[in-house]
Amino acid sequence: MTTPTTAASARCLIVDDDAQVRQALARVIERQGLVCLQAASGAQALQLLQSEGEVPVCISDIYMPEMDGVTFLREVLKLYPDIAVIMLTGVAEVSTAVECLQIGAMDYISKPVLIEEVRARVSKALEKRDLVLQNRFYRQNLEHRVRDLDRRNRESLINGVQMLVHALEAKDSYTSGHSMRVSRYAVKTAVRLGFTGDWLEQIRLGGELHDIGKIGTREAVLHKPGSLTPEEFEHVKLHTALGERILAPFLAGSPTVLHIVRSHHERIDGAGFPDGIGGNEIPLEARIVSVVDAFDAMTTNRAYRPSRAPEDALDELRRCRGTHFDGDVVDAFLSAFDDVAALPIHL
Ligand SMILES: [Fe+2]
Repeated sequence: MTTPTTAASARCLIVDDDAQVRQALARVIERQGLVCLQAASGAQALQLLQSEGEVPVCISDIYMPEMDGVTFLREVLKLYPDIAVIMLTGVAEVSTAVECLQIGAMDYISKPVLIEEVRARVSKALEKRDLVLQNRFYRQNLEHRVRDLDRRNRESLINGVQMLVHALEAKDSYTSGHSMRVSRYAVKTAVRLGFTGDWLEQIRLGGELHDIGKIGTREAVLHKPGSLTPEEFEHVKLHTALGERILAPFLAGSPTVLHIVRSHHERIDGAGFPDGIGGNEIPLEARIVSVVDAFDAMTTNRAYRPSRAPEDALDELRRCRGTHFDGDVVDAFLSAFDDVAALPIHL
C-alpha cells in the first residue's frame, strides 16, 4: 500500500526536456527539503520510477519530444495511481491543463514559473495526496473493523444459540437427533422450492432450533409415555411462542428462523397453533418445517409410541395434503427424498 509522505520518502520527480528548466525547478524544490530526480522525457521518467521506486510528487512539462506530457500522465497514473502529478503548461494551454486535471493530475502551474508558486503548489499537492491516502487508510481500517466486529457478533450469536441447544439436549436427549434431522430434511426440501443463500442458511438454523421453546416444557410432560391431558397439551403448545421469545433478542436479523420457531405447528386448514393462521398466511419456511418435523416424528421412536415405517409416514403426508400440510411442500419433500430405502436419514 502507498504510504503518506515522510521525510524519507519526500522525493520529487521533474520531467522536462529542457535541462535548464529542470535544474531551476530542482533548486527551488530541494530548498523545500525534497530530493529531486530528473528525467528528460516521459519514457526516461517511467524507467527512473521503475528503478528508483515510486515518488510522492512529480512535475511534468506538457510539450516534450517522443512522449508528450499528457501521454506520460496517463501512463504514470496507470502504474502509480497515488503519485501527485503537477503539470507545467504554457499560458495558451488552459484546455490541455483542464484535460490533465480530468485524467487525474493533481494541479498545474502556468509558465513562466514563479518560485513561490512552485513551492506552494508542491506543498499543497503533497498535503492533498497525504489526505487522500489517510482517508483511504481510515476507510479500509474501518471496513476491516466492521467486518471483524460482525464476525465476532456472529460467533457469539452462534455460541449463545449452541448453549441453548445443549441446554435443551440435556433436558430431552431425543431432541438432539430430531433437530439435526429436521434441519437436514428442511434444507433439502427448501432447495427444491428455490431457497438459496442466507435464506437457506436461516432455514438450516431454524430447523435446528425449532423446538428450543421446549426448554420451558415440564419434563414430566416431555417424557410422558401415554397420551397428554388437555391441560398438558396446552402446556406443550406454549413451546412455539416461548421459543420465539427466547430467540428474538439473538436473532432479530433472522426473521426466517423466528417464523419457523413460532409457526411450525400451524396447519394449512387453520387448525394449528399458536396463532391458528392458515394457507399462505403461514410463512413458507414454517410450512416446510411443519412437513419434515411431522415426518421425522413419525419415523422415530417417541416416549409415547414406537416409530412408523417411512412408507407409512409418506402416505400420511400425502393423505394430509391441503389440510394439515402444504401440498407443494409435501411434493418438494417427496422429490427431494425419492429413495424411500434411504429414509429416515442417519446422522
Ligand atoms: Fe415443535
